[in-house]
Amino acid sequence: MGVHADLKLVDHDEDGVDLAFRADVLSGLAEPQKAIPARWFYDRTGSELFEQITALPEYYPTRTETALLARHGAEFARLVGRGRAVVEFGSGSSVKTPLLLRAIDAAAYVPIDISGDFLRASAAELAADFPDLPIMPVEANFMKPVRLPASVRGMDMLGFFPGSTIGNMVPHSAVDLLRSMRETLGDCARLLIGFDRMKDVARLIPAYDDAQGVTARFNLNLLERINRELRGDIPVARFRHVARWNAQWNRIEMHLEASEDLHFEIAGQPVFLRRGETIHTENSHKYTPDQARLMLQASGWTPQAQWTDEADNFLIVLAQATEPRSAP
Ligand code: AVJ
Repeated sequence: MGVHADLKLVDHDEDGVDLAFRADVLSGLAEPQKAIPARWFYDRTGSELFEQITALPEYYPTRTETALLARHGAEFARLVGRGRAVVEFGSGSSVKTPLLLRAIDAAAYVPIDISGDFLRASAAELAADFPDLPIMPVEANFMKPVRLPASVRGMDMLGFFPGSTIGNMVPHSAVDLLRSMRETLGDCARLLIGFDRMKDVARLIPAYDDAQGVTARFNLNLLERINRELRGDIPVARFRHVARWNAQWNRIEMHLEASEDLHFEIAGQPVFLRRGETIHTENSHKYTPDQARLMLQASGWTPQAQWTDEADNFLIVLAQATEPRSAP
């Protein structure tokens, strides 16, 4: 079967500039609290740095969730049945995705990702291990409802959203996303989704500010990417990686802090930062199981089952699309 032709939905100008990236960067840097959406971390370098983060001793989420997926595969199969089309929001990890595809004997695999290069590379890698599985990558921003390839539209879907990627969104946007996933996947859909659990802040900070400095490089790569792709002249060495806890929103925030007054240009536009001013680059919200389930319920998903590890670090929830009308 192999990898099918993908739908190309991302706009570039005649110089190859990603117009959505430029618009997000320029508008985000014009705000009083400068900010750039975290999804722009994941160019090829950023995706490779993130893979390195997942192996760090301080970064528990990936290994914890992977162990949960490996341990409970038979239960997933019993609860969702075999032969569903797995629609993954994000281009997929070479470890977690095969665990799920094998466990439920998937009939098709549709990874959706904004980063086309990484999407195609990881789809090709997966195709080598699953020669009989139809794989249909879709290059798209999955924050909006996505039109799935015609060949899977009649199938029962299992949405897969691992990694606590949902934690990148403020709850308001997380609900929007979960609702559009329900629209993308249809009435009989199920959703398997990972949440990073609320825990001691003393354990959370090192997970986002590791001793080897990989997370710092991941954060700073966003500035390098702007310089590479948007004709920027940002003095990257004048920025410092910062990870801090926001207790009001139950989230880790990553920022890039200017170590002195700075001025530079991006795509011909001037940008100024004062010493100590930051660019907010990521939120990583942490949830209790109650909060996670309520957010699903508020978004048209009925939780069916959940799994967590002995240390209460990570939570996987299986939900089904809520009936359009339910009694009373
Ligand atoms: C991929 C969004 C789940 O928030 O833990 C890891 C990204 N950022 N280290 C997370 C990330 C810094 C990660 N997510």
